[in-house]
Amino acid sequence: MDTGLKSAAKTFGILTAGGDCPGLNAAIRSICLAAHYRYNMTIVGIFNGFRGLIDEDVRILKPDDFSGILTSGGTILGASREKPFKKDKDAARQSGFYDIVVEGDKAGNIKENYRKLNLDCLVVLGGNGTHTTAHLLAQEGLNVIGLPKTIDNDIVGTDRTFGFHSALSIGTEAVDRLHSTAKSHNRIMVIELMGHKTGWLALYAGVAGGGDVILIPEIPYNIKVIGKHIEERVRNRKGFSVVVVAEGALSVEEAGMDKKERKKYREQMPATGYRVAREIEEETGMETRATILGYVQRGGVPSASDRVLATSLGAQAAELLVRGEYGRMTALVGDSIGSVELSVPAGKIKSIPQDHYMIGTAKAVGTCIGI
Ligand code: F6P
Repeated sequence: MDTGLKSAAKTFGILTAGGDCPGLNAAIRSICLAAHYRYNMTIVGIFNGFRGLIDEDVRILKPDDFSGILTSGGTILGASREKPFKKDKDAARQSGFYDIVVEGDKAGNIKENYRKLNLDCLVVLGGNGTHTTAHLLAQEGLNVIGLPKTIDNDIVGTDRTFGFHSALSIGTEAVDRLHSTAKSHNRIMVIELMGHKTGWLALYAGVAGGGDVILIPEIPYNIKVIGKHIEERVRNRKGFSVVVVAEGALSVEEAGMDKKERKKYREQMPATGYRVAREIEEETGMETRATILGYVQRGGVPSASDRVLATSLGAQAAELLVRGEYGRMTALVGDSIGSVELSVPAGKIKSIPQDHYMIGTAKAVGTCIGI
């Protein structure tokens, strides 16, 4: 029976792609410590995501590179959102040649440099887009192993991604702090958290921080329902409210628009937090302020939980390397660390199911979810 096992990796490349997050360096450290000291592998560091493999911007990593980085934020390898399989539409538009990839064959460069560097495997740490690229490279014959990371926690195939818990702590602290100033001024405070396609961060930080309203992309909101909820609070002597909004949240009206209409609608006020604040102020007549938490959610020291998950996934990746088990993404499944086929996360996004227990929990404690 073909177990799909190939020979153990002796030399592998490692890169980090997509948005950075706390825990990336913890994962890099874990894979490299295990590969170097337990399995005597050669580690090729690839800089700035897939761009480093396209441009051959690489260097052998030594213990000095990957020791002592457990608690540091960001990634020692740098990251980019380079999408090797995406035709460069802008360059093509400028040149007028729509039917060819104007900027050369990036995926071809990757395959060529993978072989030139004598890699036995390419280890990629990234989010949805990265794992889609990883799957396509595996289909082109490269040995690839993925590690799921993102503060958005929206990767299919793993119960959680490192980066999420750190960002959740940061977001929750911000919600806590906004409560005191909202109460002092009898204001409505709107805070926008990251999550452009899914609302995991907003939902969890909203519940953890006791948000009065939580708005997520999965549930288009009705501003009148929000207004009634806030006015009910005023009647119950709560002259303030904290509204936690995912950056991808949208109104029922916007949900009915096509991409072009939505782009035009958002031109005046692109930031969701500011748009929701304006809508609430117009609906209730109450003084409303907005905070866009932004990139602080992606920075700094990883939480203990993210360090443990990142280190465990890194150790799992090293095991896959030595077993020659490629074409897989390491994953947290229930209470164990394992791996799934790269086809599982590729091209997908893990949205919050309408019947997810956290939505029920929020509603149970009287939180308005916009409908
Ligand atoms: O994917 C993680 C993420 O932080 C999203 O939550 C956010 O919308 C996006 O990255 C921002 O992308 P960039 O770093 O390219 O501005």
